[in-house]
Amino acid sequence: MPRDRDLPRWLMAALMRQAPRLGRGIAQARVHWAARLGSPPVRAGRPAGGDGDPPAPVKAMGLAFPNPLGIAAGFDRRGRLGRRAAALGFGCIEIGSWSPHAGAALCHPPSAGDAVLGINVGLGPRTSTTHALDDLLAGLREAWRHADYVAVNLGSPQAAALLCPSRLGELQRLLGSLKGQQRRLADCSGNWVPLAIKLRMEREATAPPPIVKHLEALGFEGLILACDAGPPATLQRYADWRLPERQRQACHQVAQAAELLDGRLPLISVGGIATAEHVTARLDAGAMLVQLHDALVYEGPWVARALGNAAPGRA
Ligand SMILES: Cc1cc2nc3c(=O)[nH]c(=O)nc-3n(C[C@H](O)[C@H](O)[C@H](O)COP(=O)(O)O)c2cc1C
Repeated sequence: MPRDRDLPRWLMAALMRQAPRLGRGIAQARVHWAARLGSPPVRAGRPAGGDGDPPAPVKAMGLAFPNPLGIAAGFDRRGRLGRRAAALGFGCIEIGSWSPHAGAALCHPPSAGDAVLGINVGLGPRTSTTHALDDLLAGLREAWRHADYVAVNLGSPQAAALLCPSRLGELQRLLGSLKGQQRRLADCSGNWVPLAIKLRMEREATAPPPIVKHLEALGFEGLILACDAGPPATLQRYADWRLPERQRQACHQVAQAAELLDGRLPLISVGGIATAEHVTARLDAGAMLVQLHDALVYEGPWVARALGNAAPGRA
């Protein structure tokens, strides 16, 4: 198999415009092969990514992240890449979303590597909110023996109704049941796996969802905040993130959530992060870790190396 040849960005953009499924398949294949080969292609004696010191490690959710950069859920749904993401310069990878309706097992075989492994569990595509808890409990059970942390995805369109302010009590009970399951699994396995929640904030949202201020009392251990319009992920959407105003809005949303959490829970920011400046701005706004999805598709497998230098770790 040939080494990744640093596919030109315009070619990837054209592919994503004309044939997004094929484009994503190619992006995933590039990432898998790059991780197997393990070092960036060398051009004129320098690596294609950044060439300074790697960013500092971060402690969050009781876990040691080798650096603050992670791969967001949806890129490596089944965990084919998994912990090998470390070879690309990522400190963490979140695989999934997985639900009991996914039709395939998670994480087989578990890959060797040094990246922290999060598993994102969610509702099946046709699961109603009445049966949300069943899917999430099954996901947590399935993820438990593989994951360093589990992310409960409430950012999907299927989960949106659960976040209506009028259903706050119901959502708190659902999350309380997940915490109960976490404690039972810990008792049986002798192993503690932290639980984080993934929530989405639309561009127009003026405040984080009301559940954010209850997460600590509920015993959750992290919040993943996606500043993201949700599907479909278009090339235009990726391009819009280059606008400074769009980045400022996302930082403002991160700062609002960080203020509500008041340093008691780690905040992970995802959505529109593609440059070292974006990483620094999200960390400055209050995030402890960041995740990328589309930048890996458009910028290629070595994007974390390129971003790494500007991302100081927060202990
Ligand atoms: C094709 C695609 C599939 C995704 N699948 C999932 C998913 O299964 N679970 C999830 O929590 N997020 C999923 N996401 C959302 C990403 O994790 C991330 O929050 C979003 O893409 C914003 O980050 P970005 O701007 O870096 O792409 C998906 C995103 C895309 C583009």
